[in-house]
This record gives sequence, structure tokens and C-alpha cells, in this order.
Amino acid sequence: MKFIAYNVRQDERAYFENWSQENNIEIKLVADEVTSKNLSLSKGYDAVISFQTGTYPAEFFETLASYGIKDVSIRNVGVDNLDLAEAKKYEIAVTNVPAYSPNAIAEFSVAILLQLLRNQNIFRKRMAANDYRWAPFVGKEIRALTIGIVGTGRIGKVAIDIYKGFGAKILAFDPYHDPKLESEGIYIDTLEDLVAKVDVLTLHMPGSDKDGHLIDAKMIEKMKDGAYIINTARGSLIDAKALLTALKSGKLGGAGLDTYEFETPIFNHDLNETGVKDELFKELVALDNVVMTPHIAFYTETAVENMVNIALDSAKSVIETGTAPTLVQTK
Ligand code: NAD
Ligand code: COI
Repeated sequence: MKFIAYNVRQDERAYFENWSQENNIEIKLVADEVTSKNLSLSKGYDAVISFQTGTYPAEFFETLASYGIKDVSIRNVGVDNLDLAEAKKYEIAVTNVPAYSPNAIAEFSVAILLQLLRNQNIFRKRMAANDYRWAPFVGKEIRALTIGIVGTGRIGKVAIDIYKGFGAKILAFDPYHDPKLESEGIYIDTLEDLVAKVDVLTLHMPGSDKDGHLIDAKMIEKMKDGAYIINTARGSLIDAKALLTALKSGKLGGAGLDTYEFETPIFNHDLNETGVKDELFKELVALDNVVMTPHIAFYTETAVENMVNIALDSAKSVIETGTAPTLVQTK
């Protein structure tokens, strides 16, 4: 058995090498993400271990099937950028790492809200200009706010626990009601009703190309004036243009964005020489009431180690037994 891993960063290499030694399984490490050009490198391997926020080549599963590959194990949670129907058609199992560290993302989502609530962008700029005054940028405390959680899965639940620690009132929307949270009476029946009741809306659900924007201009209009929105889930959930309009007009108080609708050509790339061409992005990041980060909510030592080890364990399990606990797509 031997595996090929794409998009391997420096900070992952030691985990791959340790796992390879412990399991006596050869792994070829490729620094680039999967493209049409380098897909042929996977010929001769039994499983592909991949990781990317952008799109996979259209011929991904068809080509892997022609090489006799039986498994694709991604090192992250979201499978929204993989064509699972194609995987099924070509009888390739797909596994993910559903819970490498929900805490990493939940903690980060709260951290960016704190930066917004205490006007960190403004005070950083003022200090850089030798201006150390306070007024008029008085902050808000989380315990004074009602937090709306969209998606009460693994990450949403950790976020709820953190917000409880701050003493916030918590409401939530999720088509699936967790029995324990249900007994606490936090669920609101519709997203429209939730957004109208909360001071902060924080997204913790999967992205999907099919549903269009969850948060569009109409939904933003239903939100409280001056409300905050936090998105560490998927950029596709928010209409970025509508968000920009609402932030500029003052309809919304601020946005904390670790994901962005058009992030693929920007995030995790060094654009020092070319700069960013996306005007919408540039306008968003220039706003004092926006905290934008390049999809790094997941990026902790605990998470990276788990992502590598769980993906490799899953691939080994699929090749040896035909299944794995992390299977998202059966053959
Ligand atoms: P999860 O599967 O444990 O929970 C997702 C929850 O969303 C489920 O309870 C589900 O019922 C709910 N849901 C589905 N559709 C919904 C809808 N239309 N409205 C409201 N709720 C809905 O997933 P998780 O581990 O909590 O992760 C959530 C998402 O976070 C992932 O799908 C991924 O997109 C994103 N994520 C981001 C990062 C990052 O670094 N920024 C890292 C990991 C995951
Ligand atoms: C995920 O695990 O789904 C993430 O969003 C993190 C990663 C793709 C950068």
C-alpha cells in the first residue's frame, strides 16, 4: 500500500513522516495542490490524501478511477468543493476529518468578534499614528448581547459553551435540533426570525453551491440595525457585495470574516508581487468595522496534527477494510 498527499505544507511534513514510519506505509509528499497538470503523479498509488479550499479538477475522480485508485481522504471538514456524485459514479470512497478540533474554529470565531466589539482596528491605527485617545470608540461586552448561532453541530456547540462562559444570551437555528440544546429552549423556528432577534449572527454550518447565499440583501435587511456577523464557515454563505453595502451604510455594525465568497485566488497565497485584483475584497478589508483573516480559524498545532493523522488512518482503513468511520461517500 502507498499513498500520495497533495498540498503538503512545511508544518505538516513531520506528522506525515512519523505516521509513515509508524505504519510502514510509503507516502509521496507533493507541495502543490491537485491540478489537472499534476494529477498524473497519483498513478501507481492506492489513495490520494488531499486538502484544498478551491475547486478540484473536473476530471479528478474519473482520472483517479482510471489509475485504479479507491480512496480520496481529505484532511479537512468541508466536502463542498468535491463532486461526490462523481466519486460515487467512479466507485471511489471519500473520507474527511469531521472533528480535527472544533475548538480551534469556535475559539477563533469568538476572538474576531471580540476584536470588533472593542474597536481593535481603530485603536491599532490610532496608535500607529501616535494618537492614544479613547473617545468615542466605547466597546460592547459579550454578556450584554444576544448571540445567534446558525448550525449547532460540533463547532456551533463549542461556540455556545464559550458564549455561555461570557454570560451571553444564546439563540440558535438549525434544521436538526440537538436534544440537550432543545431542552434549553434556544432554538428559533426560522432563520428569518433568528436574525431579527440577535445582536451577533455567527455561522457554523456547511457551505453549499446549490442553496445560493444564506445571507443575502433581504436577510441582512431583517437583521437588527448595528448587528454583527461572523463567518468562519464558508464564504459562499454570504453575498459579499450585499454585506459590503450594509457595512458601509451602517445597517450592520461589523463583520468578522475568516471566509470570503471569492477567497480561492487570494487566501493562502503570497500576492506580494501581484497584489490583490478583487476590488470588493479590497473595499471590505479597508473598513474599520471588518476583521478579515485568510481562512485560518482551523490553523492550530492540535488541528494540523489531527488532520494529517486522521486522514491517513482513514485512507489505510478504506484500503484495508473498504470502509472508515470518517466515510462521507461510500463507493
Ligand atoms: P457539523 O456537521 O458538526 O455541524 C454543522 C451543523 O449545521 C449541523 O448541525 C447541521 O444540521 C447544521 N446545518 C446544516 N444546514 C443548515 C442550515 N441550512 N441552517 C442551519 N444549520 C444548518 O460541522 P462542524 O464541524 O460544526 O463544521 C461546520 C462548518 O464549519 C464546516 O462545514 C465547514 O464549512 C466550516 N469549517 C471552517 C473552518 C475554518 O477554518 N474556517 C474549519 C472547519 C470547518
Ligand atoms: C475545513 O476543514 O473545512 C476548513 O474550512 C479548513 C481548511 C479547508 C482550510
